[in-house]
Amino acid sequence: MKLLLSIFIVFWFQVYGQQNDLNGNDINLWPYPQHVKLDEDYLTVDPNEFNIILKASGKCDLLEKAIQRYRKLYFLEDCSLVNSDVVVDTIFDGVIKLDVNKNVGKLTNVTLEVHQPCESEPYLHMSEMYSIEFNQQITKIFAETNWGAIRALETLSQLIRNVGKHQFIVNVTAITDYPRFAFRGVMLDTSRHYVPIREIQQNLDAMAYNKFNVFHWHIVDDQSFPYVSEVFPELSLKGAFNAKTHIYTKEEIQNIVDYAKERGIRVLVEFDSPGHTQSWGKGQPGLLARCYNKGRPMDSFGPIDPSQSANYEFIEKLFKEVITRFPDQYLHLGGDEVDFTCWASNPDILAFMKSRNITNNFAKLEEYYIQNVLDIVKGLNKSYIVWQEVFDNGVKIKEDTVVHVWKGDSWQKELFNVTKAGYQSIVSACWYLNYISYGTDWPNYYACDPQNFGGSEQQNKLVIGGEACMWGEWVDGTNVISRTWPRAIAVAERLWSSKDKKGMLEVSPRFNRQHCLMQQRGLRVQPANGSGFCQCDYAV
Ligand SMILES: *[C@@H]1O[C@H](CO)[C@@H](O)[C@H](O)[C@H]1NC(C)=O
Repeated sequence: MKLLLSIFIVFWFQVYGQQNDLNGNDINLWPYPQHVKLDEDYLTVDPNEFNIILKASGKCDLLEKAIQRYRKLYFLEDCSLVNSDVVVDTIFDGVIKLDVNKNVGKLTNVTLEVHQPCESEPYLHMSEMYSIEFNQQITKIFAETNWGAIRALETLSQLIRNVGKHQFIVNVTAITDYPRFAFRGVMLDTSRHYVPIREIQQNLDAMAYNKFNVFHWHIVDDQSFPYVSEVFPELSLKGAFNAKTHIYTKEEIQNIVDYAKERGIRVLVEFDSPGHTQSWGKGQPGLLARCYNKGRPMDSFGPIDPSQSANYEFIEKLFKEVITRFPDQYLHLGGDEVDFTCWASNPDILAFMKSRNITNNFAKLEEYYIQNVLDIVKGLNKSYIVWQEVFDNGVKIKEDTVVHVWKGDSWQKELFNVTKAGYQSIVSACWYLNYISYGTDWPNYYACDPQNFGGSEQQNKLVIGGEACMWGEWVDGTNVISRTWPRAIAVAERLWSSKDKKGMLEVSPRFNRQHCLMQQRGLRVQPANGSGFCQCDYAV
């Protein structure tokens, strides 16, 4: 009897309990497209008769791989719950009654037409636009570039819906889509804790499902130096937590860069200096400034010693190698949170400052260091991103520099100043996802608009996007996926979809569905909206 009762309750919940969530909102796409029209008419899709026909000028490995990859994602139904009377959407726990009169045909061959020749590396301002048109006559996807085609395949995978055992439909659809911002990033920190390659790959999968396009890899910091260098092998031998296991080899880095680009994701690596470099000092004697106490040298060190020309030679050699491993046009050079106390205690550094007529002005000393590093990177034909302090301290930066705004309290004012000075900017200030608390927090991320700072149209244009940051003090391979996701999808939609998108009430059901979709695809994403369940959660 008890069993019967609970079956009834579960059934009632299935049929009625969730209906609100479906009413008027079963366009289950995330991030929401710029222009989308779904009809009540639908086409059936048979997994055995479904093909993507690529029409591109020339071969494109990246795209062929993506087509293969998505084949595995269109027709997932492993954890479906099917009842003979009602058809249940397996991902979102709702009920759709299909009206067979609305079935207007079958989707078999989809033409995927890509206009431009294949591009091999993703880059800032690449075209990611695409359009999808499915109806009785036309079944076509169009994209300018292979990057847009990859975004379209993700949308396609979200359009195909499992409506019963081995039954799939796609609505008659017209979508034209492109991102609002060119730079849509997720940052992971692999220095405070090591993050295994497998979790970095999963993070890239999660990013691709949400159309992110930059993986900002904060690879080293004070705590550890897992990057394995061939020119300076001592750096990881002495600076990694464990020089055999907690490292990223050349091959592993290559693997991540390839894995990312197959998903249309750039890898932006950060070597933050002159601060945040304690771990560098272990394998490179003389690099860090020695601290003094009352004129006596101590066994402690500060930021990189800017007075030693050998240190710039070191940076140049290291970066020459780094850019062979990370092909992106941009390097992130850090430049944040430089503590001056150690420099100020060191008599050699003070003498150096005197010789340059900058006595007592440590910001100028920092500027001197950064200027040298920027010149080195410029000499290597690379562009750079820096944390906001570099701009704040008045360092002369290249025209195409991107300034990364992170300080929480006054980010709008900062953004105003940075763009007023004519620099491109990205925002992370409202998206430090490593700060956690009890309860639902994603609506705050969702509400934060990077162009909401009172700038002119010209200034708004210079805000090229933003980035969700997951700093690693409390995060390692065990929780990096669950803590970052699904919370970061709020940032994904803010950066992709149109500005006027949307109140939380309207957004929540789609958010839930995307959450469940990520679970269905095997990612251990954590609950974000209090009590509830996915058909595919880990009870199944
Ligand atoms: C998609 O088609 C199904 C089946 O006809 C229908 O129930 C659903 O409302 C359609 N979606 C939209 C957004 O019109």
